Amino acid sequence: MIIGVPRETAGGERRIALVPESVGRLTAKGLEVRVESAGSAATEFPDADFEAAGAKLAPDARALGEAAELVAKVRPPGPLAGGHEADLLADGTVLLSVLQPLSSPDAVRRLAERRVSAFAMDLMPRITRAQSMDVLSSQSTIAGYKAVLIAATALPRIMPMMMTAAGTLKPARVLVLGAGVAGLQAIATARRLGAVVEAFDVRAAVKEQVESLGARFVAQEALGDDAEDAGGYARELTPEQQARQREILSDHMAAADMIFCTALVPGRRAPILVDRAQAERMRPGALIMDLAAEQGGNCELTRPGEVVEHRGVRIHGLIDLASSVPVHASQMLSRNFENYLMHLVPDGELVLDLEDELTREPLVTHEGQIMNERVRAALEG
Ligand code: NAI
Repeated sequence: MIIGVPRETAGGERRIALVPESVGRLTAKGLEVRVESAGSAATEFPDADFEAAGAKLAPDARALGEAAELVAKVRPPGPLAGGHEADLLADGTVLLSVLQPLSSPDAVRRLAERRVSAFAMDLMPRITRAQSMDVLSSQSTIAGYKAVLIAATALPRIMPMMMTAAGTLKPARVLVLGAGVAGLQAIATARRLGAVVEAFDVRAAVKEQVESLGARFVAQEALGDDAEDAGGYARELTPEQQARQREILSDHMAAADMIFCTALVPGRRAPILVDRAQAERMRPGALIMDLAAEQGGNCELTRPGEVVEHRGVRIHGLIDLASSVPVHASQMLSRNFENYLMHLVPDGELVLDLEDELTREPLVTHEGQIMNERVRAALEG
């Protein structure tokens, strides 16, 4: 089995799917790994480190695509000068990628046409066995941390309380909406910087986790029926529940120096938790850090990839946070890819057991067909 690792071509993407440490473990197991040469490009992952880990270099993506039987790539295949990355993959190649199939219909169609067996790492089932393969969790950890650092430098105050000869400075007040993986990491990071932190989530189960990080779980009365589904994700609230939640959280929002928005509902637009009127009640200089921006945002005023200023409140539509921390984000991604690769290729040969949900659920295209029902429905619709 020859495993190929291309360099990423999307603008600003500095991560890589397999880091030299993983490559070393894979080659020690007898797998052959080829990595596209970075040439003269500056990268955190230079060719020499891959060669030292036992990989061979491919001069370019085309040569890599011709040789590789399994390709591990961070971003979905995208357009290239004069072509498309999907067209570089040989018929029957296995692709592991953070494919985001619902937002990359063109890539999915092309992969089906190329008869590529494409696995979306972002469709991993949320079962214990898959925890070490979960790219959404690993990248959200990095995003939650980085968002707080960006906010700390953008805030016109400092985060911790300080008692000095020049007077006492109050600690920053942080409100975290959505206490999943990114939210919990934002809480932990803001606490380490000395902020006073409040948090809210529709899943009652997270209250204890929030409190164990030294934050206060607020607006418990807004919970109503617990909104956790059987898969551990949140369900979408009814419009009445959403309105009630917004009302109960309003005073907490107005008092905050920073709000971190991380609330997501799988397969849906992110819920609006901070509307225009609520943003207007915040103090000038306050920040709304919207980590849900790529899914439409939790704040009504969010624009993905932009900082919007509205009556002195700045709303950061944060995207690609994990790419901005390429070393550790890649290290975690690479573990996820490596573990999934070992699931699919346990003894040097590909094992495609479609009875196993761990194989079946992330499989988006196979033998020319679109396998995943949700993706097929979205593409046909
Ligand atoms: P996510 O990214 O889908 O959502 C983030 C958070 O937003 C969730 O905690 C959700 O409850 C919350 N949320 C949704 N609607 C909301 C609303 N209207 N108001 C406030 N909050 C709202 O979820 P994430 O962070 O990826 O993980 C959720 C849970 O799943 C975590 O407890 C995590 O530990 C667990 N998990 C389990 C895995 C496994 O067993 N393999 C893998 C990954 C996560």
